[in-house]
Order: sequence, then C-alpha cells, then structure tokens
Amino acid sequence: MLEKGMKQYMNKEIEEQKEYIKKVERLNAGKSLKYTIITMGCQLNENDSEKISGMAENMGYIRTDKLENANLVIFNTCCVRENAEERLFGKVGELKNLKEKNNMIIAVGGCMMQEKNMAEKIKKSYPQVDLIFGTHTLHKLPEDIYNILENRKKIQDILDIDGEVYEGLPIVRDSKVQASITIMYGCNNFCSYCIVPYVRGRERSRRPADIIEEAKEVAKQGYKEIMLLGQNVNSYLRNEMELIKEGKLVDKDGDYKEIDSFAKLLRELDKIEGIERIRFISPHPKDFTDDVIEAIRDCDKICKFVHLPLQSGSTNMLKIMNRRYTKEDYLNLVEKMRKMIPDIKFSTDIIVGFAGETEEDFEETLDVVKKVGFEQVFMFIYSRRVGTPGDKMQNQIPEDIKHKRFDRLKKLVEEQIAEKSKEIVDTMQKVLVEGFSKGNEEMLTGRTESNKVVVFKGDENLINTIVELEIVENHLWYFVGKVV
Ligand code: SAH
Ligand code: SF4
Ligand code: F3S
Repeated sequence: MLEKGMKQYMNKEIEEQKEYIKKVERLNAGKSLKYTIITMGCQLNENDSEKISGMAENMGYIRTDKLENANLVIFNTCCVRENAEERLFGKVGELKNLKEKNNMIIAVGGCMMQEKNMAEKIKKSYPQVDLIFGTHTLHKLPEDIYNILENRKKIQDILDIDGEVYEGLPIVRDSKVQASITIMYGCNNFCSYCIVPYVRGRERSRRPADIIEEAKEVAKQGYKEIMLLGQNVNSYLRNEMELIKEGKLVDKDGDYKEIDSFAKLLRELDKIEGIERIRFISPHPKDFTDDVIEAIRDCDKICKFVHLPLQSGSTNMLKIMNRRYTKEDYLNLVEKMRKMIPDIKFSTDIIVGFAGETEEDFEETLDVVKKVGFEQVFMFIYSRRVGTPGDKMQNQIPEDIKHKRFDRLKKLVEEQIAEKSKEIVDTMQKVLVEGFSKGNEEMLTGRTESNKVVVFKGDENLINTIVELEIVENHLWYFVGKVV
C-alpha cells in the first residue's frame, strides 16, 4: 500500500527519506501537530511547496492556514526581485514569540537560501530558525526534521552543486483542477539581470517516462489540466541529448529512444486519456523551434495560448540582457506562429529600466506591445541582484525614471487589454470550471483557454468539467458567462 501521494518508482536517496518520514511520523503520533507553508516564489516554487506538503503530511502533520496554530512553519523563498526579503524577515520576526508556545519548528528554504549572504543573515539575526535548506536539498526535509526533533539542534542543509533529479517524492497538490508538473530544473541561460541560474543550478530534465507516469496519475485522480513547468521548457532534454552525442551519457535503458525533445513530449502527453488541457511555462523565444509550434497546432489539448517572455523590445537591450534574440526575431516568431495557428494568443513578461535602457529602447518595448497585442503582460521594474552581471553595470537607471516608464507601459497594456476584452463579449468560450466564485457563492468560476476568469450561474456538477459558455458581460478583470 502506498502512502498519501507516494509513487512506486524512487531514487535510493528518496527511499532513505521515506524511512525518515516513518521515523518522524512515529515521533509525532497522537500529537495532532500542524504545519503551514508560506510560498513566496514562482510556480516552480509552488510545485516544490506541494512536495513539502506531501512530505509534511506523510510525517503526520496536518495542514493549517493559521500561522499561530502551526507547530511546523516552512518558508519557501524567492529572490528574483528584492521585495521578498523584507517580507521574509518581517514574518520570521513575528514568529519569535509564538515559537515557544507551540514548540514550533521554523524552517526557511528555497531560492533565497542559495544566496550565501541571505542564509548567513538568517542564521545570525534570527536564532528562532531551526532549519535552513536550499533548492537542491528540499527532498531531505524528513531527515532534517528528524534530526531537529531528536537532537534539538539547528541545521543548515544547503548544497552549492546542482542537485540530482529526484523521483518519487510524495506530493499534495493545492489545486483540484490544474496539476503542475515540473519537467526540468535549473537554467543555463544566464540572462544578465537574473539570479535564477545561480540559485537553481544547471538545466536537468526529468525522464520522459517519469513525466508521463505523473501525468497519467493526475489524470486518474481526476485532474483535467496539466501545467508543465521549467525555466526554459523548450530546451527540455537538450543537455541530455548533447551529452549522448558527445558520448558522455549512454542511454542504456532507452529512456530517450521514443521521446528526445519537448515537442515529442507534448505529443505524447496529448494522448493521455482524461487530460483535456495542457499548458506550459516558460518557453524561451530563442528555443521556439518549428517542431514545438507544430505540436501546439496539431494537439487539441494544448492551449492555443503561449506565454512568450519578451523582457525588452529593444534589440540593443536584448543583447545586453543576453537574451540571444532581436526585436525582429521575436516579432517574426509571433508572426510565424500566427500563420501556423491562426487563433493563437500570447502573454509575456517585460522588465522596465534595466541598466542602460534609453528612452528609445523603452519605446521599442512599447512598439512590440502595440504590435503583438498580448492578452496579459507581467511587468517588472528591474531589481538589481547581487552576483549577476546586471548589478555590476555602471549605467543604472534612476528609480523615478524606472517608475515613470513602468506607469507608461502599464497604461498602454491596460488600454489594450480593455479593448481586447470587448472582443470576447458575445463569443463562445470553453471554460474549465474550478469551483464556486469567492466573491459570489451562487456563481461558479473558471478559466478560458487564454486564462481569462469567467463567472456564471450553473450546476455544481459542472465543477472540474469544461463547459462552453456564451460571454455576456465584460468587467475588465473577469467576464460573466451564460450556459446556452
Ligand atoms: N525563466 C523564465 C522566467 C523567470 S523569472 C523566463 O525566462 O521567462 C520570471 C520573470 O521575472 C522574468 O521573466 C523576468 O521578467 C522577471 N525578472 C527576472 N529577474 C528580474 C530582475 N532582476 N528584476 C526584475 N524582474 C526580473
Ligand atoms: Fe532567468 Fe533568463 Fe533563465 Fe529565465 S531564462 S530563469 S530570465 S536566466
Ligand atoms: Fe522561482 Fe523566485 Fe526561485 S522566481 S525559481 S522562486 S528565485
């Protein structure tokens, strides 16, 4: 019999952790201990937190959303922009008094802990923290917790070298409708503003069979939508294939015989019965090969909605950012995809005010936004990250200019989205129903293929199905639909 969310195939290391899970469970038996996780990062971090939940629940902890009731508090941190730091320190500070009352274990993990100065700061200034762990040691949580409980000593468990790909960790998912599946870890791109490659290590892809197995499992559990995750999903298996070519890796078990690329993985996942929608984030424009576009075109389940991070519309800035495409490359790619898949839609990420960005550079960004017409734009003000090339550049942009540019971009995006929203009214949209609307319990809520929220009156039985709705009202951030 498998425990909650536990898989059959496992690395040796995970088998060891399973023993620790049992040991902790025995120590915790009959105590009704509670845990809570505070996740501060991207969807990859959220997926890691689901694995932390899986381990915690198998160790006998029960989930609570109330910090003051928790006996185990885990922070899963992010460091991609600077605002997360103050939030973390504030929250950890608040726990000082609660700690004794609840006999609380406080753990801080995730990307920020891979930054040496941050781990040091926590260690020095926040003695209430029992465990500091990094992105490559997440799977060792059971062993670390066991050692804390048994020996009452503080632990720092951070690895600088890349982690392996661990299979078989238990998982308790947050959503009942969309299942996130990490397909690869790390990033090799080193965009000059970005800290992720330093805290997540080099790219490592999971074996196709493991991903397919997980997708089949979530389909069996009733999930209709899967979200494939990675920092650069369209370079899935690229490293592995290069190593094989160079003779440094031997595919002795035929792991990559049938599936050796992201496009082939997509086609295989599309065949899984029960899964009705497939999404993925993030692809990199430089790696968006035709076989991936063809897979999106040919596979009914893959959403015709692609997140294509732009970062900047200026070829000059893109070069400084080390993005390895030009403004024209990006626009040509969008054009090509629109030709091959006429109803395709896009969302994007944009950074405003990176070092050296001139007024002309910024206007190039506005120009691409105008030309492409994104459904959604995630906009960020450039935040200097210690250890990245961007931080060392001399020509940093003053904060007030960054903010003014950000506001101009935001205004353009909002105008465009308001205009686009009008176009959806009176059309039919396929909506995956997530549950009751939080604002109005009598209404159901769900999302269209292009991730737009639609609320509508309907029967409870429609939850976790895809319904075709007529869109009747447009409220900028959500739409009202009608069953016809
Ligand atoms: N791997 C993904 C996204 C990683 S981080 C990709 O390449 O698209 C998510 C987003 O955060 C990035 O797309 C970028 O827009 C933003 N970002 C990364 N570093 C940043 C920084 N130093 N300052 C501001 N925004 C940043
Ligand atoms: Fe960061 Fe660039 Fe890697 Fe994305 S592709 S995680 S922006 S380095
Ligand atoms: Fe994600 Fe933040 Fe880490 S964006 S990968 S949680 S630095």
